[in-house]
Amino acid sequence: MNHQQEGVVVSLGSLVSSHYHGVYETNDGPPPRPFRILVRAFIGACIFIGVLALLIWFIYRPRTIQVAVATATLARFDLVNTTSINPVLSYNLTAVLSVSNPNRRVSIYYDQLQAAGLYQEERFGRAALPVSFQGTRHADAVPALLVGNTSMEFGDSGVAAFNDYRRAGVFPVDLWVDGVVRYKFGELMTTTASTLTVKCHLALKLMVASGWVECTVIDS
Ligand SMILES: *[C@@H]1O[C@H](CO)[C@@H](O)[C@H](O)[C@H]1NC(C)=O
Ligand SMILES: *[C@@H]1O[C@H](CO)[C@@H](O)[C@H](O)[C@H]1NC(C)=O
Ligand SMILES: *[C@@H]1O[C@H](CO)[C@@H](O)[C@H](O)[C@H]1NC(C)=O
Repeated sequence: MNHQQEGVVVSLGSLVSSHYHGVYETNDGPPPRPFRILVRAFIGACIFIGVLALLIWFIYRPRTIQVAVATATLARFDLVNTTSINPVLSYNLTAVLSVSNPNRRVSIYYDQLQAAGLYQEERFGRAALPVSFQGTRHADAVPALLVGNTSMEFGDSGVAAFNDYRRAGVFPVDLWVDGVVRYKFGELMTTTASTLTVKCHLALKLMVASGWVECTVIDS
């Protein structure tokens, strides 16, 4: 969101400097009085507009989307032996995510929103999340279901680690939520699309529903 502020400042600066050039190149002696007044008025107006833009930005600046895992259950998490070299992870992860827009003045369009499971940095499963728009101060409970079989690229050490986790009874599984969002300011303006990336660290026991886990917004 910061690049918008920079945009305002940069264009303001180049406007002012190009005006100065125009004045000094076309006149040899000191510029006549009405001209100087005009220049000052112009610079004053530019500064005023700049400050106003900054002020509006600070008042309406959107607060970050908040994401949490309300509950998650691993019904299945198994390495199955196949004829292929890589072991296949067979999984069934059901989760309910809480996605909320904390803003009082800004609504949010979710052009895309999806969840993916991650185990040992490798992705297993992906699910589109059914949210497309959130009004101000609104939270949704969003279901995510990851079921399937994925070939994992880890070798024997990965299999050994998996068996250790199985023995301990807790699997470190992450949920990544990513999407493309736009912020809508009242009826007037909608920002261009920006990406949203959220990471949720989970430690899941088989067949035991997890409690509430806050997620970290990495990029918004
Ligand atoms: C996945 O697990 C849920 C219970 O958490 C169960 O209701 C559902 O049938 C399972 N789906 C598959 C495809 O095994
Ligand atoms: C697959 O089977 C082989 C031999 O039967 C065994 O050594 C290996 O540990 C098994 N792999 C998994 C992931 O169970
Ligand atoms: C995954 O593989 C298991 C057998 O290893 C099978 O029972 C199950 O139906 C498969 N699940 C999906 C979603 O393909």
